[in-house]
Amino acid sequence: MRMKNLYKKPITNLRCSSWSRYCSISLVILWTLLILGCILLLHLYSNNNTSLNIIHPPPLPSHFHQLQHVEKENFQIPPPNKKRSPQSKSITPLVDEFLDQDSSLRHVFFPHKTIDPMKTIGKGKNDSYNYYYPGKIWLDTDGNPIQAHGGCILYDENSSTYYWYGEYKDGPTYLHNNKGPARVDIIGVGCYSSKDLWTWKKEGIALAAEKTDKTHDLHKSNVLERPKVIYNEKTRKYVMWMHIDNANYAKATVGIAFSDTPTGPFKYLGSQRPHRYQSRDMTLFKDEDNVAYLIYSSEENNVMHIGPLTEDYLNVTSVMKRIFVGQRREAPAMFKHKGTYYMVTSGCTGWAPNEALVHSAETILGTWETIGNPCVAGNKMFRVSTFLAQSTFVLPLTRFPGLFIFMADRWNPSELRDSRYVWLPLIVDGHEDQAFQYGFDNKLWPRVSIYWHKKWKLPLGWNTF
Ligand code: DGJ
Repeated sequence: MRMKNLYKKPITNLRCSSWSRYCSISLVILWTLLILGCILLLHLYSNNNTSLNIIHPPPLPSHFHQLQHVEKENFQIPPPNKKRSPQSKSITPLVDEFLDQDSSLRHVFFPHKTIDPMKTIGKGKNDSYNYYYPGKIWLDTDGNPIQAHGGCILYDENSSTYYWYGEYKDGPTYLHNNKGPARVDIIGVGCYSSKDLWTWKKEGIALAAEKTDKTHDLHKSNVLERPKVIYNEKTRKYVMWMHIDNANYAKATVGIAFSDTPTGPFKYLGSQRPHRYQSRDMTLFKDEDNVAYLIYSSEENNVMHIGPLTEDYLNVTSVMKRIFVGQRREAPAMFKHKGTYYMVTSGCTGWAPNEALVHSAETILGTWETIGNPCVAGNKMFRVSTFLAQSTFVLPLTRFPGLFIFMADRWNPSELRDSRYVWLPLIVDGHEDQAFQYGFDNKLWPRVSIYWHKKWKLPLGWNTF
């Protein structure tokens, strides 16, 4: 018995002491895990707070949401007249009607109504009268229709002023060689300035046509289209690139000019075929790291090319990437949001409108994917014709990340000087839910939408920096 007891006791003791050691070790581990967990949570919380401060926009005013309202635009398309065949191959009967000078819908496409910002100056507080009316005649501060087609907007930090550059087309429209395409002789690049993106003062012709030397690129008989201007911080020069062509669009080059001031006069340096390829519709894009890129329709408009410019922005480098191969896109307008690159393009149908597409890429020289038609309208005709217009530029509104102004041209091929501006809100919003159309993986992209509005204005506070 005793032996037994003696034998048992130490064992009991041993169990007891190992159990309590086990308990205390577990407690230490638990406490350590708890403390580590708390530290991790605190870290995550503080990180979240930092990123919230950095990337989240200020609370959106209620009329920002109004921009996302889908508006109906109802009009009856008349039965085909003798000019329009019922079997027309045009993308929609609406486009046929649009191209018909005698159309009974002419007043819908090209309303006579003028919008004169000077008439409402001082009338309302906080920009409450600054409404955009896409398609109506927009007057400058002198009361003349703005002439800045196929253009772009540069925000000049030196003068805290916006500059709008575009084709100055205030001359007669005629058919080249009596056959086409419809054209206006080069007058030059119009330049307008504004503080509010609504009231535009004409600054003059920033780059003028050459009137006498027939061998000059800028001779009035040639083509100057889609001028784009960016500022080079290093050289302190304003640099302009533009599509330079001859009247039958066979030359297919890009021209370069620069100026010490945003209003010019710009000094023309000459034209080139970038990377030894054709270049027709084009745009520039200046990235956050100040590297600028030329994007141009090439290879008979079958392929878009993109490549970085030299540091002074006066030339291309040897780097170039071919994108949208075989997709036949033109009128590129590029922008960036939250590190993703986007581009709106049109199809190639001359001055006639067609369906816009939006494309995205995670890196600018990486893989570009086509994600679909961004146009939102309560009317199919408007959706498939880019609101009867063609992309030219996308302007970011830095106060509201994700909100942009989509700038497009509603060309009037029978009277090009009377082409209209279609400015609409472009919003990159919501969860990633758009699959690309041409690709091989399952990537989803954030939704890009351009909303049709007969009348709209920028949200209050858009220009408070
Ligand atoms: C479509 C282009 O986008 C315009 O800039 C212009 O070149 C027309 N073609 C000419 O037909």
